Amino acid sequence: MKVLAIGGGGREHAAVEALFRSGAEVYSVMKNANPGIISRSKKYLLCDEKDTAKVCAFAKENDIKLAFVGPEAPLEVGIVDELEKIGVKCASPTKAAARIETSKSFMRDLVNKYKIDGNLAYASFDNAKDAEEYVKNVKHEIVVKPVGLTGGKGVKVQGEHLHSFEDIMDYINEIFDNGIGGAGVILEERAIGEEFTQMVFCDGKNIRPMPLVQDHKRAYEGDKGPNTGGMGSYTDSNHLLPFVTVEERKAALKIVQDIVDAMAKEGCPYKGPMYGQFMLTVNGPKIIEINARFGDPEAMNVLTLLKSDFADICYRMATGTLTEDVEFYDQATVCKYVVPEGYGVKSVSGKEISVDVEGIEGCGSKVYFANVDQKDGKLLTGTSRSIGVVGIGSTIDEAEKNCEKALKFVKCDHMAVRHDIGTKALVQKRVDHMKELRSA
Ligand code: AMP
Ligand code: GLY
Repeated sequence: MKVLAIGGGGREHAAVEALFRSGAEVYSVMKNANPGIISRSKKYLLCDEKDTAKVCAFAKENDIKLAFVGPEAPLEVGIVDELEKIGVKCASPTKAAARIETSKSFMRDLVNKYKIDGNLAYASFDNAKDAEEYVKNVKHEIVVKPVGLTGGKGVKVQGEHLHSFEDIMDYINEIFDNGIGGAGVILEERAIGEEFTQMVFCDGKNIRPMPLVQDHKRAYEGDKGPNTGGMGSYTDSNHLLPFVTVEERKAALKIVQDIVDAMAKEGCPYKGPMYGQFMLTVNGPKIIEINARFGDPEAMNVLTLLKSDFADICYRMATGTLTEDVEFYDQATVCKYVVPEGYGVKSVSGKEISVDVEGIEGCGSKVYFANVDQKDGKLLTGTSRSIGVVGIGSTIDEAEKNCEKALKFVKCDHMAVRHDIGTKALVQKRVDHMKELRSA
């Protein structure tokens, strides 16, 4: 089966590997020359992933009938709608369905309208004056978010990044003055707990769960620093997380299913991977965000463990026939992203990076190339995350140790890694935090 894969990051490399394992003939479109994706592609096109005309021409030229879109930016411009017009089925949502991610107020309003569990108090604003009135009167701590897309970097939390009324208003004004996200501001109640990601495959109606993952959004060790797209993530061998119960996971899956049902009722059925990010609170899981795609880095954890045929899953998502179970290996994974020095504030980019793939695979790990560019025989870093290294093991601890061994095979003079991700100490801190909240 021919499959077109759109996107050039670590998440897309993991998806392309999974397609390749399924025996699919991969065609790819990406803006950076990602050597991992290129090595698995029959043909590839380097262009802006939002350039729907070029992508459609490439699909037509190569007689493609099935496509998968990795990142949110092409979804937001309606690449799926354009591909479907020329007869390409897509394992990704249309522009209307992608609003579940591209508009945070669409998501909150939908969850509210259908009385779905897990919502937080929220209010959306199209001007700073009204937002100021709300901030003056609100009784709980808040989180300030641009309504539109910001690559995971636009959220500021009261008590963490914002410490006074002035801090909050300065950031709200900054969002309006600079048009960050392009669609106003949403102020949400701050949820307290531990975060987890529940992703599912979806065909418009049916969902099939993936293992739970915990991402680490903060740039620096000890969960300090600005929010990023995600510095690394882990999964456990039982597909739960050490601080999440079976019942709590069920509650999260019910929320996701209810959202999928609501979207069908709204006339914009959702197909593709759906990403649910939750805060596990003492009152159960609360929705932090819903994304219209795999998470990145989370995709690298779960796709490494995918036992079922990914090309077949894509076909089934695209055609409303996701009726079989989806299986994953019962192993743990720890993913750590090698990022450019300064990532999260101001990245030092364009530096040479070297990756010894065989060395990495020799220590129970996998490597995924991300925002790197192959130029004149050299591999150069971009401004975003460079290389994802995924350690595999029978426990999180073993996977973490394998990941650390593998990281020695990535070399760059200007890189950063959060070495604490997946360590016994940090995982225990999460477990203790949840225990403390539950007993309070
Ligand atoms: P997002 O880009 O929406 O995933 O937000 C980035 C990070 O901000 C999340 O991973 C959370 O750590 C934090 N965050 C976002 N929304 C909330 C909320 N309502 N309550 C507490 N923390 C939040
Ligand atoms: N890892 C968070 C995201 O993909 O949005």
